[in-house]
Amino acid sequence: MLLKLSYKKIKEEKSVEKKYGFFLLGLLILITILGKSLASDGPIVIRFSHVVAQNTPKGWGAREFARRVNQELRGKVRVEVFANGSLYQDNEAIEALAAGNLEMAAPSSAKFMGIVPALQLFDMPFLFPDIQSVHDTIDGAIGEEMKEIFLNRNLDIRLLTFWDNAFKQFTCNVHPLLSPDDFKGLKFRIMSSDVLDAQMKSLGATGLRLPFQEVYNVLAKGLVDGQENTASNIYTGNFHEVQQYLTFSNHGYLGYVVIINDTFWQKLPKHIRKKLTVILNEVTLEVRKKAQELDIQQSELIRAYAKNHGHPGITTLNESQKKVLQKAMMPVYQQFSSIVPERWVSRIENM
Ligand code: LMR
Repeated sequence: MLLKLSYKKIKEEKSVEKKYGFFLLGLLILITILGKSLASDGPIVIRFSHVVAQNTPKGWGAREFARRVNQELRGKVRVEVFANGSLYQDNEAIEALAAGNLEMAAPSSAKFMGIVPALQLFDMPFLFPDIQSVHDTIDGAIGEEMKEIFLNRNLDIRLLTFWDNAFKQFTCNVHPLLSPDDFKGLKFRIMSSDVLDAQMKSLGATGLRLPFQEVYNVLAKGLVDGQENTASNIYTGNFHEVQQYLTFSNHGYLGYVVIINDTFWQKLPKHIRKKLTVILNEVTLEVRKKAQELDIQQSELIRAYAKNHGHPGITTLNESQKKVLQKAMMPVYQQFSSIVPERWVSRIENM
């Protein structure tokens, strides 16, 4: 009897142990699953690739956008900025982004020639009389149309906003560039745009399309005679150190198309998309101010460098020199009338 009772007790204890064991095992599995799902629930990462230095309008804008998102959406979204082409060159970035291998980028409008050729509007020589006319264009119907074009082409690229750099200036290492004749026979590095190629041809020069990262080397080695870019890109890229002559010509605009992979964008929760849009719009306005500040500051730094290093030729075109150059470049408009919508051009000319 006693034996029977203690046997029953042992059996009961064993079954309690068993139940307890199952419970512990279940708990362990639950904790593991929960832990894993929490770990994979980390912030959504947005990689933002660009090719220029930090101390440029785009470099500043990308960092400011990242700073604000990382602070205001802490734990939910993290923006990682890759500057100086450390992740991709521009053309690679556009391809990677379209393929869903990169979330954000801001290539200059010229780099979209292969997929949205109408964006070469921004490359048209002497089209925009001032920065306000650029802002009126991108903030108005033309900017909206451009956004639509991206969506309608099923590129999986969404145009979010436009960021400024500034107007471009010519540099050269052969002689000062003051009239169309001074360009004849020279080779200039240009961005990958047919309009820019035609612009150089209209002056009797040759345009060589090279990625931004190669510009300093080709200038330093004398493989090209000159290039066109904004003061901030010239200064931060040290191009002024290897170019004796710079002409402040303001002959064309350089700006950026801020893009995001559209599938990635659509999958973001609505409230996150809303917040990112608000931040981006605010940063866009700040970039405009910063771009103008940097343009003035870095133009001055280029002048000071030239003075201290005995570079002879920093010149600003006067109005009549500008008109002569502009006239020489006019054929570009006729050549691209079927690629860059004429109604856009005339709308800007009549602003
Ligand atoms: C260039 O290639 O010169 C520019 O597009 C670089 C940039 O992003 O400003």
